[in-house]
Amino acid sequence: ETDDLCVEFVVIRSRIPTCLVRVREELELLGYRDGETLFGAPYDPRHAPPLPGQPSQVYSDYFARVKDLVERASEKNQNKPVILVAHSFGGKVILGFVNWTPMAWRKKFIKHLVLVSPTPPEGFLGVLTSLTSGPSFLVPSVPPLLLRQMWRTFASTLLSLPSPMAFGHRPTVITNHKNYSAYDYKDLLPALGLNTEVVKRVLSMQLRIDPPMVPTTYLNGVGVKTPEQVVYREGNFDVAPEKVYGDGDGTMNFFSVLAFVKELSRQQQANIPFKFVAIANATHSDIVVQEHSLKKVMDVILEANH
Ligand SMILES: *[C@@H]1O[C@H](CO)[C@@H](O)[C@H](O)[C@H]1NC(C)=O
Ligand SMILES: *[C@@H]1O[C@H](CO)[C@@H](O)[C@H](O)[C@H]1NC(C)=O
Repeated sequence: ETDDLCVEFVVIRSRIPTCLVRVREELELLGYRDGETLFGAPYDPRHAPPLPGQPSQVYSDYFARVKDLVERASEKNQNKPVILVAHSFGGKVILGFVNWTPMAWRKKFIKHLVLVSPTPPEGFLGVLTSLTSGPSFLVPSVPPLLLRQMWRTFASTLLSLPSPMAFGHRPTVITNHKNYSAYDYKDLLPALGLNTEVVKRVLSMQLRIDPPMVPTTYLNGVGVKTPEQVVYREGNFDVAPEKVYGDGDGTMNFFSVLAFVKELSRQQQANIPFKFVAIANATHSDIVVQEHSLKKVMDVILEANH
């Protein structure tokens, strides 16, 4: 399984284009130019964008910089509003950004938001397996278990745990003597060895999802086998688990994607366009790399620019 969260280190390490590299190339072929009509807003994936109404020093600084960037980009281009494009965790970050800005600012500066496989706040199972057994995607040559301790210090790792909102009472972690659902973090997290401070933080998190209130298109893969339960028979979390699969994009569980779509589509009640595009057989990372799905992503960006 090479397909998982898209983070900056992956771009550096890999010779094959990942993340938004191919999208950038396609945009450049169409005449977009870095620093003139095309801008990047890289973020630090260790940190968690704040939940609505909560403070975060790192993200306050980041959001302020993105706001400046958007204003400068608009100014350079006859004060036209911008199109924001984000993939994976970047989708969560940019949604946090948009919701952080005043409504009048959004209306003035954002023409369209394109979310490609954004990390659903309702969570996905992979977050849990990275916490239990370590991340399998950061550095392929290093056993995930060796990265586990470092991984657990990232605030972002706790942010998208499977939530009751999408996972309900279905067991996500199965052992011979006890099953755990999204309601059982009080028991599960200490069993994994996470300290009480972290457990308290997770339990105090309130999930609230605000639609961005700007025209938005959400694209996500579907029809790819995606882990939705893990089995640690003997209750030993230091071994790789057996996995039970369901539908999704290989990383994001489809029922969680649909729960997120439902929340975001609430902006249609205010007559603000929202569209969801499911792309068959597109995996979480390949959606912005493989020709057939990349073309759909490009079509959405170009249509937004009409
Ligand atoms: C745990 O879940 C599995 C699969 O849903 C089920 O077969 C098993 O009986 C459950 N075990 C316990 C202890 O509840
Ligand atoms: C998706 O993959 C399945 C299994 O390989 C295949 O049967 C189906 O035709 C594919 N669908 C599309 C739209 O490519």
